[in-house]
Amino acid sequence: MEVVIVPDAASGGELIAEAMARLLRHTPDALLGVATGSTPLPVYRALTAKVRSGAVDPAHARVAQLDEYVGLPAEHPESYRSVLRREVLEPLGIPMDNFIGPDGTAPDVQAACEAYDRALAEAGGVDLQLLGIGTDGHIGFNEPCSSLASRTRIKTLTEQTRVDNARFFDGDIEQVPHHVITQGIGTILEARHLVLLATGEGKADAVAATVEGPVAAVCPASALQLHPHATVVVDEAAASELKLADYFRHTYADKPEWQGI
Ligand code: F6R
Repeated sequence: MEVVIVPDAASGGELIAEAMARLLRHTPDALLGVATGSTPLPVYRALTAKVRSGAVDPAHARVAQLDEYVGLPAEHPESYRSVLRREVLEPLGIPMDNFIGPDGTAPDVQAACEAYDRALAEAGGVDLQLLGIGTDGHIGFNEPCSSLASRTRIKTLTEQTRVDNARFFDGDIEQVPHHVITQGIGTILEARHLVLLATGEGKADAVAATVEGPVAAVCPASALQLHPHATVVVDEAAASELKLADYFRHTYADKPEWQGI
């Protein structure tokens, strides 16, 4: 995997937005896999700026959701469908018809998970999947010890993740759902390019385990080591526990610019 250390979250957002823009210039109907949470927001802001300046036209882009709370109505402001409509689709001017995601309110959750895996395959697979990382190393909501071969399915959130996410629910953990539908790790690994963004000191241990630890289900993000095209973009704080930080800085500084990430 490639590790890119950037000075701050905004630079990480710009770097990844440029990779998305480059993809869309080449493949206008590319399928972008998007994550929610705080970390990806600088990416969406930078991509929106590129769209407004005319540097890229995302009108034909397609967007796929990574995960969704179980039981929250789609119109709830914190359902991930609502968040993505607000943060990604509307600012970029991408119609909801170009969006696919799992149904978190389906009476048969398992059938909804299987239907979503099929929808991703029928859409031709994700071209670029943007990922955040949990303080416990989760990607999507594949919590520690998730199978590295898992498919989209229902998962129970850890107490830590519910505490971390309470900030989106007026700080009230009681409002944070216990269950989610998440793309499995095996599903995520099928995307053609994985881009994980991590910012802030709170992610430093999880980033070190992901990049320099063994491939192990206890750190789900370590599965990125198995992917032929995985990019981990970290700010200085999130890189602070990396033993090979200087090596990563050196190799990226010497990389031919035309390669992008
Ligand atoms: C959200 C998701 C999660 C988050 C992770 C980090 O769709 O898949 O894995 O990326 O919990 O969240 P933030 O960025 O809020 O720290």
